[in-house]
Amino acid sequence: MTRIEAVVNGKKVTKTVDDNRLLVTFLREDLGLTGTHVGCDTTQCGACVVNIDGDTVKSCTSLAAGANGCSITTIEGVAHGERLHRVQEAFHRHHALQCGYCTPGLIITAIDIIEKAQGPLDEATVRQELKGNLCRCTGYQNIVSAILDAAEKYAMSSVSKVA
Ligand code: FES
Ligand code: FES
Repeated sequence: MTRIEAVVNGKKVTKTVDDNRLLVTFLREDLGLTGTHVGCDTTQCGACVVNIDGDTVKSCTSLAAGANGCSITTIEGVAHGERLHRVQEAFHRHHALQCGYCTPGLIITAIDIIEKAQGPLDEATVRQELKGNLCRCTGYQNIVSAILDAAEKYAMSSVSKVA
């Protein structure tokens, strides 16, 4: 068994879990954060992406024990109360989803792409950076448009992490 002390979506969490507990199971079943989805279980689809200490991680193939002492952000943690994160707003504005199954992982990935961009984002870069996130519904065009739109709004703001 492993005792986990972590900050999840800004709240301190303490739990004891089996050593082989997957991070996605810990989030979904132990913490009830079911916005993080499981699409493949094999690190291919990106439905399970969460942010740990500033980097994106596929939680379906990560151990919960590895998150001990870390700060984790899931899709439940990106909005500010009733106010959507600007990447969520952009997805809404551009109709960048159909079934929505891939969307939580895509939003977490998109925020990471935008925040780590060293300069203006272009379509080719966004498509390259999305290679770990599979969407079976949309054909990606609206997702890419939403990310480029949100990136532009980030660039116009001096505050990078404000929703
Ligand atoms: S469920 Fe983790 S990458 Fe598909
Ligand atoms: S919107 Fe359905 S899988 Fe992406």
